[in-house]
Amino acid sequence: MDFSIRVIRADEWEKARELRLTALRDPVAHLAFLDTYEAAVGRPDDFWRERAEGASEDGPGGVRQLVAETPDGRWVGTVTVLVERAAAETLFGEVPVVEQTHVVGVFVRDEARGAGVIDALFAAAAEWSWSLTEPRIERARLYVHAENTRAQAVYRRLGYAATGVQVALHAGQDAVEVEYELLRPA
Ligand SMILES: CC(C)(COP(=O)(O)OP(=O)(O)OC[C@H]1O[C@@H](n2cnc3c(N)ncnc32)[C@H](O)[C@@H]1OP(=O)(O)O)[C@@H](O)C(=O)NCCC(=O)NCCS
Repeated sequence: MDFSIRVIRADEWEKARELRLTALRDPVAHLAFLDTYEAAVGRPDDFWRERAEGASEDGPGGVRQLVAETPDGRWVGTVTVLVERAAAETLFGEVPVVEQTHVVGVFVRDEARGAGVIDALFAAAAEWSWSLTEPRIERARLYVHAENTRAQAVYRRLGYAATGVQVALHAGQDAVEVEYELLRPA
């Protein structure tokens, strides 16, 4: 499959919404994402505009949404990278010990799976993470549901290792999200 990886532009919010809504209809969406299709589909256009702008190449800088794009302009996969500052509370309520990035919103369209799309997206996510100087990023991390065995196989293949940290991200749930990390290369 022919594709290239790039950061989204702020004006591409409709394509970002379509890909997100497709991801939220995946059979493992309840394991993979904290959001639901039912909640997302009702959100106003401004929500998607602001989300795309914030994660775009022209955004404020702490968030980047990467997409895999085919030559005819179709988006077949995505990851979003969040910068998490040491000693500042994250969206997930913890306080990181080191400067780090957090990979979220990991999705490859069904028809594009097994084709190296996820490898290329993660390579770009790592490249962006290690390229930052303010702050200098010491590790990239992510959460994955304990039952999402396909995603975990991918993360291990890409060099991520389980840290031993487990958290509950869904209210009322046991700690079933497993943290994986990739350390900055020496
Ligand atoms: C997770 C995802 C991005 C991976 O992309 P992909 O293109 O499907 O991944 P690949 O096909 O390259 O690799 C899948 C790996 O899982 C393995 N695998 C496939 N089905 C599996 C299963 N049911 N249990 C365990 N491993 C499985 C494959 O053997 C392969 O591992 P290997 O390379 O060591 O052989 C994609 O499947 C996806 O979008 N899933 C739905 C959303 C999701 O789960 N996102 C992650 C949230 S944390």
